[in-house]
This record gives sequence, structure tokens and C-alpha cells, in this order.
Amino acid sequence: MIGSGTMGHGIAELAALADYEVNLYDITEERVLSGYQKIKWSLEKLAEKGMITKSQVQPAIEHITPLTDMRVALLEADFVIEASPEDLALKQELFQTFERFVEDDAILATNTSSLPISEIASGTERPERVIGMHFFNPPILMSLIEVIRGKKTSDTTLQITVELSKRLKKRPIVCRKDTRGFITSAIFEGFIGEAMWQISREKIPAEAIDARMKFTEKFPMGPLELADLTGLDIGYHVRKEAGLPNPPVLERKVSAGQLGRKSGHGFYDYSNGVGAKYQAASASSFDPLPLYAMMTAIAARLVQDDAADPQDIDLAMQLGGGFPQGPLAKADEIGLDKIVKKLDELKAKHNDLRYDAPLLLREMASKGKTFYS
Ligand SMILES: NC(=O)c1ccc[n+]([C@@H]2O[C@H](COP(=O)([O-])OP(=O)(O)OC[C@H]3O[C@@H](n4cnc5c(N)ncnc54)[C@H](O)[C@@H]3O)[C@@H](O)[C@H]2O)c1
Repeated sequence: MIGSGTMGHGIAELAALADYEVNLYDITEERVLSGYQKIKWSLEKLAEKGMITKSQVQPAIEHITPLTDMRVALLEADFVIEASPEDLALKQELFQTFERFVEDDAILATNTSSLPISEIASGTERPERVIGMHFFNPPILMSLIEVIRGKKTSDTTLQITVELSKRLKKRPIVCRKDTRGFITSAIFEGFIGEAMWQISREKIPAEAIDARMKFTEKFPMGPLELADLTGLDIGYHVRKEAGLPNPPVLERKVSAGQLGRKSGHGFYDYSNGVGAKYQAASASSFDPLPLYAMMTAIAARLVQDDAADPQDIDLAMQLGGGFPQGPLAKADEIGLDKIVKKLDELKAKHNDLRYDAPLLLREMASKGKTFYS
């Protein structure tokens, strides 16, 4: 396990609980020991809550070896999972280093949430063994692993990664194409990004959007509360790197250093102990159709590109995002004709290509088809 931060320590813990020998690497002793301590603490907590037995704690701890020498960490590794910071150049360099130390048949997986797997693999000599293995936070509790096939990933690499995910007692969902944001991050972009465009263009208060999506539509939290929790700079940089415009409201917040919960301010004020408070009463002033339309367009494009099937997309969003219903099942319920009409209307109004309805969706709508029939 390369990187022992938020994700790395959680993934190492999972693997140790599944009886794998885990070498946990980080760049300094302080960091790797901090990750190691967090694992111990978490295992104790899981045992206290009865989620594992007390007798599982010590063996799991003994399966983990904290290390700061990468060569030693990789020497006998069959499967490497990388969870270093989200930086393409860093990951490319790391994957080239991995190849120098591992056996030829070792698999190299990255936990990136948004960087193209094929680009991470591009500097390696054997890109066929590089794959995306996207865990969710916290890995120990979240049941989804999104497995992403890079352009050159081999069938064997894919099969072994799916099998390992199952042995970690998770539900793997395969994204067959290395498309931007894969399944989950791409659809979250529809949920969160469109909410921010609605604020910028329609002057709708964040509280009204969040109230509607949480209290009426039954998402675990509103998109703006979620954005504050993840950190406003994260989505901002992902869009920037992809050459996409950021909604003006986000531009303003990021340049003012308002990065969400971690900085004390974002769409909500966390400095006064109140935080993301919004009332069910304001839910009725927001029409959620633009958010559903955008999520449908993104999901339909994944189906059109043969990246994933509707059932897998929907299940990924339920397991990875706590969505009450998958976006395509919801689209069927709303009516694909209504969705396409909304996309066309938004595109005409804002001259924005993000609202382009994929051909597949347009055809299905015109023929009266649904994703689940
Ligand atoms: N946090 C999440 O919710 C989440 C969810 C899914 C995927 N991810 C992805 O997982 C990866 C890690 O995210 P995180 O939240 O755990 O970050 P983090 O900052 O908590 O942890 C990153 C760790 O990598 C270490 N590191 C720095 N340079 C390194 C190097 N050269 N070699 C090895 N390790 C190095 C750091 O010391 C740190 O411990 C990112 O690619 C992120 O996009 C994060």
C-alpha cells in the first residue's frame, strides 16, 4: 500500500482484515506511523461496535508492516495499490518506480478519483498491468470499489482486480472505458457542478437546492453541503485540469480562500458552529429537473460509449454516493422526453455544450424507450 493517508490506511486495514500481508509505505516515518496508529485505533473501534470480533484485531495488526523504504515495501508485492496525492506527474513517476522493484506479473493499481488511468500508466513498460481501483471513504465501511480499465489494461489484470475486490468483501463495479471521472466522479459532477451553475445562473440560494435534494429527493445530503465537505478546491482543480469552465460562484469562493468545511467557510459558514443548516421549508422553491437532466446526460453517455451498463451505473451511485435511486432509473421515472427537453432548453438558454443530449438518449426518448425495459 503506497501512501498511508486518509485512503491508504483504510485500504491497508481492509486488506489486513482479509488476511493479506500488507506493506504500508509513506514518505516519512511520522506519516506512516500515523497511518498505522489510525488502523490500530479503527480496528479497536470496529471490535467495540461488534463489526469484527476481538480476536480479529491483533492478527490484522500483525499483517501490516509500516515502511519508509519503497524498495523493501515493493520487493515481494503481488499487488500494489497507490493512494498518494492526486497529482498526475507524481503518480506517473511513482508507477515507473514501482516497475523497477516488483516482479513482472505484479499488478499496479491506483486509487485516483479523477486522473486518467491510461495517463498514469503511460510512462510504464507494462501498461497492461496498470488499473484503477477506486475505493470510497471510509474504505472499511463503503461497499463499492469502482474498477477502471485503462486503454491497455489486460483481461487478466481486470479479472484479478475484480477477484481481489470480492476477497476484500466489496462490490466491484467495472468501468470499461477510461473516461473522465469514470462512473461515480462523472455523475457527482452532474449533481454538484450543475447545482453550482444553478446558483450562478439562476440565483438560487444554496439552501434551497440542498433542502430540495436532501429532504424531498432523499439524497444523503445536498450537493453544496457535499461540495463543502469534499473541499471546494478539489472539483475546481479537476475542472480546470480538464479544460472545463468553473461556475462563477465557485471561482469567487476558491479565490477568496473559502474552500468548504476545512477552511471554515464555503457555501456555509462553519466558523460559528452552525455549519450546513438548511430547512425543509425552502425545498419547494427549487426545481431539481436540471440536476437530474445533467446526471442522466452523463450516465447515458457512459452507456452510449459502452463504459458501463445502466444497472451498474445506478448501483455504483447507490453504493458509492448513497443515492436513493440510480440516475437512470430516476430518468425513466421522470420520462426521457422530459429530460431531453430540459437539456435542449438549458443548452439554448446558456449556449453551453455540457447540456448536449447524447444521441442514445435522444433516440430512446423519441422512440418512447426506457433504460429498464
Ligand atoms: N479522500 C477521499 O475521499 C478519496 C476517495 C477516493 C479516492 N481518493 C484518492 O486517493 C488518493 C489519496 O487520497 P487521500 O485522501 O488518502 O490523501 P491524503 O493526503 O490523506 O494521503 C496521501 C498520502 O500520500 C503520501 N505521499 C505523499 N507523497 C508521496 C509519495 N511520493 N509516495 C507515496 N506517498 C506519498 C502522503 O504523505 C499522505 O500520507 C488520491 O488520489 C485521491 O484522489 C480519495
